[in-house]
Parts: sequence; structure tokens; C-alpha cells
Amino acid sequence: MKGLILSGGKGTRLYPITYTSAKQLVPVANKPVLFRVIEAIRDAGITDIGIVVGDTAEEIKRAVGQGERWGVKVTYIRQEAPLGLAHAVKISQDYLGDERFVMFLGDNVIQGGISELIRQFAESDWNSQIVLKQVQHPQQYGIAQLDDQGRIVRLIEKPKEPPSDLALVGIYMFDHHVFEAVNAIEPSWRGELEITDAIQWLVEHGYAVYPYIHRGWWIDTGKMEDLLEANSLVLDELEHVIAGYVDKDSQINGKVTIEKGAEIINSRIRGPVIIGEDSRIVKSYVGPFTSIYHHVLIEESEIEHSIVMENSQILGIPHRIEDSLIGRNVVIQRSPIKPRAYKLTLGDNSRVGIL
Ligand code: TTP
Repeated sequence: MKGLILSGGKGTRLYPITYTSAKQLVPVANKPVLFRVIEAIRDAGITDIGIVVGDTAEEIKRAVGQGERWGVKVTYIRQEAPLGLAHAVKISQDYLGDERFVMFLGDNVIQGGISELIRQFAESDWNSQIVLKQVQHPQQYGIAQLDDQGRIVRLIEKPKEPPSDLALVGIYMFDHHVFEAVNAIEPSWRGELEITDAIQWLVEHGYAVYPYIHRGWWIDTGKMEDLLEANSLVLDELEHVIAGYVDKDSQINGKVTIEKGAEIINSRIRGPVIIGEDSRIVKSYVGPFTSIYHHVLIEESEIEHSIVMENSQILGIPHRIEDSLIGRNVVIQRSPIKPRAYKLTLGDNSRVGIL
């Protein structure tokens, strides 16, 4: 089997972070989501992985390379515009050939990996298997309707009256018949070739499409709240290790990872928390569900339930920062110059909450 990761797209819902960088490279518990996806596919025994890339191709190639780090072979497939998930499959036909494959959205995080579902599909003669998960508000998702034999009969986007509470998760398995489907369907009202239309086409043309019901959590990190939730869930599952330096005036409680080169000086860290390589926490408080990436400086400040990306600084902020996503090379500090005022340099679509 081969793997196909979708890592193109625009990432509009994560602006401004994704104006300048790929959303699949936003770190969740200090590891880019895309790296977690590659590891999940590799751990299921698949080493031949195609990555569909768009405008952020160069950044993704720089971060992933040829895949040696994971013992996999990566092939890049260029998509000229985000024309839909089924379009991404269509342009990958030469790469995929006749092999069965698993397609994984590059911004999704799933608990427990995908080995079990890959095994089930590999042992079956089904043409496609789609991963479903029970959700609380099926009206907000793409929903699958099953027949008495448990086979998929229909997929419906955001149904007003949902026939089930089983939502499509961003992982799909196909054999080569999917190319007939993606070549037959037309773009939807939003101008995209929809994967749900391709699957519906398979069902209507007599191909066997079965579900795999996923029991653990699954998060699409496309939105900020979901990103913070994914960060919390992964932090809670990490093996916690202290490889950096903690001075005698600091207090560490709960599950805390301090990566190598990091320094905790006269501070309190309450896990689950991860502090990245060469970051410094000085006279500060870092509270539960916070990920501080590498080369960050936090001084005389408090932060909780947040993600801080690399090379940023938070200095002398008098109120606790919560529920925040702070990008790369950001500086947040008190203004030393009079008059006393907020002095902000914010990108388009930034959001700031002030007391
Ligand atoms: P989406 O989150 O559906 O789309 P998007 O990345 O354009 O995001 P937004 O809605 O915030 O603008 O995409 C899911 C994943 O699939 C994501 O990793 C990007 C990728 N993708 C492609 O590679 N090609 C495509 O044509 C589309 C639509 C998405």
C-alpha cells in the first residue's frame, strides 16, 4: 500500500499564522501536525508516501525532505490550486498507479494511529474504506448512512435531519477504482472536486465501500480552538521527560517535558506542559495544556492553555495569557516609552483580547 497526505490548501481559518506558513507545520505538543501524520502512516507499515503540496510546497519540502528521518520515501505531487480533495487524488494517479492507498489529511490528528484500520483494509477485498466517528452534532459534519449489512449507502454534507451520528474523519482508503470516480464527478457549488461525491459515485456504481468506526479522539486542526484542543489531548498522552535544566527555585508539577537545552529559572510549571529546546522560562508561570516551542523566552509572565511557536518572546506581561496561539518571532512586552498606551504591530486578521 501507499500513503497520500494532503498538504496543500489555503488554511484561511488559521489566518494570520497561515499567511506566511503552512498550517500542517503548526506544532501540536511541539511537533508539526504533518510529522504526526507521517509517523502514523509509517507506523502502519507504509513507507512509500506521496505528499500533495500547493503554494507552501517549498516550506513543506524544507521541513520534511525526502523522508529519511522517518525511514520513508517521500514523493511530492504539485497541485496548482486547492481544487478539492478528489482533485488531489486525481492528480496523484501517476504516482499511485494500481496500488491500494490510504489518504490522510495533513492537518488531522488521530488518537492511537491507523495500524488497525490499514490492516483491516489490507485484508479485505473492499474497494474503499472510510473512517467514521460518532459525533455529538452530526448536523455540522459530513455524515454516512449505512445499510443493514453495515455497508455505506449514502454520504450527506451537514444534513438538517441526520440519518446517523457517524461523521467522516479525514482518512480514506481506496483501490484504483477511485480514479474512475474522480474523473467522472463535476465540481461542487464551491468549485471543488469533493471526495464525498467521489465516494458516493463508487457506492452508486456498485463498488464496495465500508466504514471503519474510530473510537478514540480525532481532531481536524483547521481552526484555532481545535488546534488548542488537539494540543491538550496530545500533551496529556506524552511520555514526560526532563532533559533540560531546572534550577532549585523552580517548581515542576504534573506531567512536564523539558527538552534539552531548555532552562527553567525561578518559575512554576504545572503540567501537562512541554517546553522546547533552548527555550528559557524565567520568573514565570506556565500552566496546564501549554506548548512552548524552541528558542522561546518567557520572562516575568504567566501563560496557560496556549501554543507559543518558535523564537517568540513574552516579557513582563502583567496579566495571564490564556487560550492563545502565538506565531513565530513574535514579541509581546510592556511598552517602556510614555505615553502609556497599547502599541501593536499586528498582521491582517490578527485577534487580540485586552483587559
Ligand atoms: P481543508 O481544511 O478542507 O481546506 P484548506 O486547507 O483550504 O483550509 P481553510 O478551509 O481553512 O481555507 O483541507 C484539508 C486538508 O487537505 C489540508 O491539509 C489541506 C489539504 N488540501 C489539499 O491538499 N488540496 C485541496 O485541494 C484541499 C481543498 C485541501
